[in-house]
Amino acid sequence: MGEEKPLIAALRGEALDIPPIWLMRQAGRYLPEYRELRARAGSFLDTCYNPEVAARITLQPIERFGFDAAILFSDILVVPDALGQKVSFESGHGPKLEPIAEPKDLDRLAPAFDADRLAPVYQTIERVKRELPETVAFIGFCGAPWTVASYMIAGEGTPDQAPARLFAYRHPQAFARLIDRLIEASVAYLTRQIDAGVETVQLFDSWAGVLPPQEFERWVVSPLRRIIAELKQQRPSVPIIAFVRGAGPHLGDLAKRLGADALGLDTSTPPQWAIGEVPASVTLQGNLDPLALVAGGEALDRQIDEISSAFAGRPHIFNLGHGVLPETPLAHIARLVERVRNRG
Ligand code: CP3
Repeated sequence: MGEEKPLIAALRGEALDIPPIWLMRQAGRYLPEYRELRARAGSFLDTCYNPEVAARITLQPIERFGFDAAILFSDILVVPDALGQKVSFESGHGPKLEPIAEPKDLDRLAPAFDADRLAPVYQTIERVKRELPETVAFIGFCGAPWTVASYMIAGEGTPDQAPARLFAYRHPQAFARLIDRLIEASVAYLTRQIDAGVETVQLFDSWAGVLPPQEFERWVVSPLRRIIAELKQQRPSVPIIAFVRGAGPHLGDLAKRLGADALGLDTSTPPQWAIGEVPASVTLQGNLDPLALVAGGEALDRQIDEISSAFAGRPHIFNLGHGVLPETPLAHIARLVERVRNRG
């Protein structure tokens, strides 16, 4: 009826003349107003757990650029934090967690996820909800079990998640128990986010691309299928976006088997190929190179136009293929939004 928010209409399978646009990591360090609030709010996790500040940060990119969606300001690593694993973020060094080196280290975690421990997140959602412009959709999220587990095992960012891959080969049963706990936590956490007011949720499997086929099936596909099936049962009207970075040749299979309403495409995926693999009943999201957004100029314009024409006529959400980089000039983002909306 033209009353639905553009992002939700796209998730329901509508091919809009102008695709809705938002950017992964749209709330972050490239924004001077973010850096200012962060400098005053204490540690990164303190910021995530401060509903007033987190709500303002969530709204900052909407106020500046008029995106079609706000994504909750938080982090995927609040789940390990709630499970009792110590998490901190050192500026310039990324996350630090007490690593899980062997199966017995798993005993340090809480026996079950207590969703109440993330109450400040739901309060942030309630605050944002009250201030969100009426055409702007609100996205909740969590990390997918494999990606979250990979940080829990290594205790830090790594180039290839080798520690988690080794742990899963050496201790498959213990690793499966950790994944099961994260599946259960993800469902409980996302359900609470939905009840607090988000209208769709995105699952981030940023490290799916490092796994060989059997491990990909066991640690990426199977957990995501279980989470999505459970959410579809408990909150059937809420559309789900799965961002499986590095899915590569698995894309068509994911479209058939995950049960997600939309799939996020990473930067390396050719749009035309993805369109051939994925039926139009599944919305595609992506996939501008974050570095083209840093570069700007002709490289940026050309890539925007290629993506816009490739997805024209099928359900599409304009986004990056991964998160906004801190060095991205604000003017390039304004240009991106303008060009996506003013084609033809
Ligand atoms: O997209 C958004 O704007 C919403 C907020 C959001 C953050 N992290 C804020 C953040 C979301 C959705 C995430 C997801 C996330 N976090 C992922 C999956 C997506 C991806 O990028 O692959 C991962 C792997 C993490 C874990 C994480 N958090 C890392 C590795 C780092 C350090 C690297 C970096 O970019 O700084 C973070 C920190 C983080 N999360 C920041 C922000 C804004 C920077 C913190 C700061 O202010 O210094």
